[in-house]
Amino acid sequence: MRIAVYPGSFDPVTNGHLDIIERASKIYDKVIVGVLNNASKKPLFTADERVDMLKDVTDHIANVDVDSFSGLLVDFAKSKGATVIVKGLRTVADFEYEFQMALLNKALNPEYETVFMMTDSKYSYISSSMVKELAGFKGNLAGLVPPEITDRIEQKYR
Ligand code: PNS
Repeated sequence: MRIAVYPGSFDPVTNGHLDIIERASKIYDKVIVGVLNNASKKPLFTADERVDMLKDVTDHIANVDVDSFSGLLVDFAKSKGATVIVKGLRTVADFEYEFQMALLNKALNPEYETVFMMTDSKYSYISSSMVKELAGFKGNLAGLVPPEITDRIEQKYR
């Protein structure tokens, strides 16, 4: 059984994230979405809220689980029996940071392989921080985040 973890802040989950989850779920037997529970990043949504949103939007994919973690990603991967870390890449700007993280995770535990998936070009400009900025200006979130969660985002800015 090939298990992959897809880690992130998901504050909130976007259509770009969901696309990577859907594509990874076709490659791996199980995909575990790992929500980083890191209060020092001052997230808009609590870890529980982020997990709930991810569970709602991945409800239709049978082999996807969602859980939160704190501490090291490689420790979370180990606790889940995963051997692969899936990351999405949007632009070259993502590359430098992701490359460093992949090498660091490899140094921490060489058993794990980081696999990068290229974003679908139609999502390459979407990020959680842009979604929050737009929502703060009462902009239209259609097409950027799954429809099930637009209300929950807009509510934070009411
Ligand atoms: O969505 P993000 O914020 O880009 O995700 C970043 C994430 C959660 C993948 C990264 O911060 C992470 O793996 N954090 C856990 C701590 C860790 O293992 N750091 C690397 C070694 S210090």
